[in-house]
Amino acid sequence: MFKVGIITASDKGSRGDREDLSGALIRDFMENRGYQVVSYRILPDEKDLLAKEMIRLSDEVMVDLILTTGGTGFSMRDVTPEATISVCDRMAPGISEAIRGLSLQITPRAMLSRAVSGIRKSSLIINLPGSPKAVKESLDFIMDSVHHGLEIMTGRDGECARSGD
Ligand code: MTE
Repeated sequence: MFKVGIITASDKGSRGDREDLSGALIRDFMENRGYQVVSYRILPDEKDLLAKEMIRLSDEVMVDLILTTGGTGFSMRDVTPEATISVCDRMAPGISEAIRGLSLQITPRAMLSRAVSGIRKSSLIINLPGSPKAVKESLDFIMDSVHHGLEIMTGRDGECARSGD
């Protein structure tokens, strides 16, 4: 069973001024698919705090997957991609390209998401947009392939099985 950590980046959410529907949605979505959600925190949009939490989840809790929501847009406070890049050893751009590719068919606003994905040690980190709708659409599309990526990353499956073969 893969271990998952969730980070919601939201100034309002961290102050308790807004209910964190997106983080809760990620938790329910992943638990329903058999993942073990071991951590779920709401943090303000501060690069250093977000990076520190990603390092904690990766290096101490040793989760396989870190899913973030929020802070990927153009507001001056949106710094989730910068925090993610600062902690990753290797980037995995295909996942974020896939999310944007799918999302652009739903709304042109998807081009405003600066989300990135990458690997720190043995944890895959994926930025998701902030809205619950965007989170659901993104997870529905990526999780089958991401699961396979986790199997390869953790050495539980050395072969890259191509769907459609
Ligand atoms: N992606 C999907 N699938 N569906 C959406 O409704 N909204 C977009 C985009 N990605 C959207 C989406 C909007 S309106 C913005 S501003 C960006 O994500 C960035 O969102 P964030 O700043 O909340 O992370």
